Amino acid sequence: MNPDLRKLQTYPFEKLRQLMAGATPNPEFKPIRLYIGEPQHATPVFIKEALIAGLGGLASYPSTLGERALRQAIADWMQRRYALDGIDPDTEVLPVNGSREALFSFIQAVIDRHRGGVPLVVSPNPFYQIYEGGAYLAGADVRFLNSIRQNNFTFDYADLTDEEWQRVQLLIVCSPANPTGKVLDLDDWKQLFELSDRYGFIIASDECYSEIYFDESQPPIGGLQAAKRLGRSFERLIMLSSLSKRSNVPGMRSGFVAGDPAILKDYLLYRTYHGSAMSPAIQAASIAAWNDEAHVIDNRAQYRAKFAAITPLLENVLDTSMPDASFYLWAGVNKNSSISDAEFSRRLAIEYNVHVLPGSFLAREAHGANPGDGQVRIALVAPLADCLEAAERIQRFVTQL
Ligand SMILES: Cc1ncc(COP(=O)(O)O)c(C=O)c1O
Repeated sequence: MNPDLRKLQTYPFEKLRQLMAGATPNPEFKPIRLYIGEPQHATPVFIKEALIAGLGGLASYPSTLGERALRQAIADWMQRRYALDGIDPDTEVLPVNGSREALFSFIQAVIDRHRGGVPLVVSPNPFYQIYEGGAYLAGADVRFLNSIRQNNFTFDYADLTDEEWQRVQLLIVCSPANPTGKVLDLDDWKQLFELSDRYGFIIASDECYSEIYFDESQPPIGGLQAAKRLGRSFERLIMLSSLSKRSNVPGMRSGFVAGDPAILKDYLLYRTYHGSAMSPAIQAASIAAWNDEAHVIDNRAQYRAKFAAITPLLENVLDTSMPDASFYLWAGVNKNSSISDAEFSRRLAIEYNVHVLPGSFLAREAHGANPGDGQVRIALVAPLADCLEAAERIQRFVTQL
């Protein structure tokens, strides 16, 4: 077997399952599950209809590059969303089966194991675990940039030595971030681009939460958009986007990668061998989804209502506040007690049947600390009434700690 498989960590949800082994959540309460970032708003009917109408395509093999109509719909969306004029759908856009497989396969495609020294992938910490697994299986090592509340979730690039930066081949950022909700601004991007210019690494910008924000007039800036604003090309830069959260279709497995055409050309070569062409029916449904914004605005309104109702309740008892974006509340549990995040999550589940994710499961010990320690991730994915009920139970739980 590939020995690097042994480096893969247990997935956070499996760690949660182990944490809860043998425990029985209080049956007096109905279970409320806020631990997984799976959208629970309804999938728009027109997307399902487009999927059904696209079933005729099943008789032939799809191409890895995807249909031009899909790449064009994505390029048009990027124009509307990011004011990115002139995106070339033939060379700058690649449909993928969700950003998860794309993140994983992209790392395999770009890491050069033969360049001298162990290659490094830089990841935020806490982070989406695929970054780490992708890096290990590509023969790279991971270096973390901690993201903590006391520093307003900003990175300290001095966490890596110059020798380490020299070996960095890929830096992954997530904006809006899972789990902190932090959005990178233009100054952050400027710093990242300067580092990429100095050390020659590629930046992969994971933007799967880009459409879950609260102020309709202030959508989060994207990586390619930042490059354009700063008068740069997309050299050494790609973004990953997804329909999963935007359109409530995590089961559809549909997203895209866009950016540096030279990188995408080789990534396409990799993907033809990987065998990851998108089903024609999913392509048809994806075109419909990218072409419509009304359902996304409605989706945001639902999250906005939940955050407006729940954040003030939880701010009273936990160390939390409105995130810049995303559907997560990242909350410190030590406002009035010294309970660990794992114990908090376990007892909350047992005593009140509310299920959240311990923050330490989403982060690694780095630079002397695990930035997830003492934090929990609360995904406001359930209906408003359930989120409210959960917030009330959390209030009761915390006051008795
Ligand atoms: C930060 C982050 N990136 C990527 C993904 C993958 O999403 P998908 O594969 O559905 O596009 C997720 C899913 O939860 C995520 O949280």
